Amino acid sequence: LNNMDQASLKAYEWLTKFYHHVLRHTKEGKEAYAYLQKRGFSEEMLETFQIGYSPQSTDIVTQFLEKKGFHLQQMVSAGLLSANEQNQITDRFRGRVVFPIRTHLGKTVGFGGRTISGQEPKYLNSPESSLFHKGKLLYNFDLARSEIRKKAQAILFEGYMDVISAHQAGIRNGVASLGTSVTEQQASLLKRYAESVVICYDGDRAGIEASYKAAKLFKQTGCNVMIASIPEGLDPDAYLKKYGAQKFKHEVMEASNTYMTFLMEYYKKDYNLQLEGDRIQYMNKVIAELTLLDRPMEQEHYAKELAKTFDLSLSTILEEIHIKRKKLG
Ligand code: UTP
Ligand code: MN
Ligand code: MN
Ligand code: MN
Ligand code: MN
Repeated sequence: LNNMDQASLKAYEWLTKFYHHVLRHTKEGKEAYAYLQKRGFSEEMLETFQIGYSPQSTDIVTQFLEKKGFHLQQMVSAGLLSANEQNQITDRFRGRVVFPIRTHLGKTVGFGGRTISGQEPKYLNSPESSLFHKGKLLYNFDLARSEIRKKAQAILFEGYMDVISAHQAGIRNGVASLGTSVTEQQASLLKRYAESVVICYDGDRAGIEASYKAAKLFKQTGCNVMIASIPEGLDPDAYLKKYGAQKFKHEVMEASNTYMTFLMEYYKKDYNLQLEGDRIQYMNKVIAELTLLDRPMEQEHYAKELAKTFDLSLSTILEEIHIKRKKLG
């Protein structure tokens, strides 16, 4: 690390403490504190995740960093402060609950800030910098790592709130991709610790589309992928708060779908299976996926299911797979 990065790391450390202190011990932090309480987060979670709050003031953080002797323009580059149109330096996360984003070694290299007053964007993150590469790290990987290894399984969530709610409910192998697009680097990071990954994204269209992309990526990485499904309109955090940990374990985690079952369901959205032509196209699509499976046992299992659904014989489906295989060479 060069000197600038060293200084930024130090600033991240100071600011994590500063924001956290504001949330826990000042009147400026009361509204944010009440907000988090209302959302059901325990004191212990506020501590474990060092959650904080950046006051509404435009320059209290700027002043704090200046007093500590940091070079302010450098703090802007490192994403700790902002510069407005007149190139005035201002606090970046003002009026937001702040989540420190740590590397796998537990060093804070970025922040995510959630508005508590309905501002856009809902979450403001630190920009990419020489320290912070969003696509290379996973939120909470440092805390979850030992549990992931122990269980040989990781749960992939979308956001901070999902990870923290899960942790509060005793589910400690959760990490988040911080948004809905997982990268290859994130997938191979997980692969090193977990044989299997359960994708547990939000129960909305964006969540389902992202689950599809993530499932494909993890499969390519060689992970055993399962895809959990959260009821429409909820996300893992909201589900846990509404129904509790037991129901989440039994009705979400244990009910998660295998890769092929998820795909077979997912592809249905593009077709009207009442129509003969669509049915054929759908079958072709599924058979193409079956062809890619490397285990004959798996292939036969899902081929049977497809045969049953469309009232065909198993040998016909297997023959189709065989033909497609030959074409692939
Ligand atoms: P969601 O929109 O699902 O938010 O985005 P959430 O985590 O459920 O937040 P709450 O419950 O409304 O507070 C999932 C994740 O995507 C990233 C954040 O990391 C968020 O946790 N995100 C979302 C952004 O980076 N920017 C945004 O504007 C929105
Ligand atoms: Mn504390
Ligand atoms: Mn979402
Ligand atoms: Mn969500
Ligand atoms: Mn949420």
